[in-house]
Amino acid sequence: MRRLCMLVVAGALNIGFAADGEELYSKYGCYGCHGAKAQGSASFPKLANKPQSYLVKKLKGYKSGTIHSNRADTMKPFAKKLSDKEIEELAHYLSNIKEKDNEERYYEEFEVGDSSGS
Ligand code: HEC
Repeated sequence: MRRLCMLVVAGALNIGFAADGEELYSKYGCYGCHGAKAQGSASFPKLANKPQSYLVKKLKGYKSGTIHSNRADTMKPFAKKLSDKEIEELAHYLSNIKEKDNEERYYEEFEVGDSSGS
């Protein structure tokens, strides 16, 4: 019984961790530039499924001001709002997006194929 409780708590913590990153991504308006699925665009880098350690390093660099460029100046005010814990959570979420993205793309393609056939 005690072991079961431990498992339930561990599961809840895991889910909470992933959801927090997603909430932060929308709360801070990151999607406005990087896209709803962090897929990026011609002007803004893709973030989805880049290594967590890389994303943390970049975000801390913008926050502390060690990354300099005209483009980095666009990103800095957003990184400055983040605590180190929030950076970890965002990076965790972003580095694990790919699978979900592929799954949704699969369903989109399936629907397109279906309607063009009729
Ligand atoms: C106003 C537009 C804008 C918003 C909003 C924004 N970013 Fe960015 N972001 C940029 C730009 C521009 C760059 C590229 C900067 C550079 O070249 O160094 C960038 C770069 C990054 C990078 C580095 C990507 C790489 O591959 O090197 C990360 C990570 C990142 N942003 C995360 C975030 C997060 C998390 C948020 C929300 C808290 C956010 N961004 C909000 C414009 C934005």
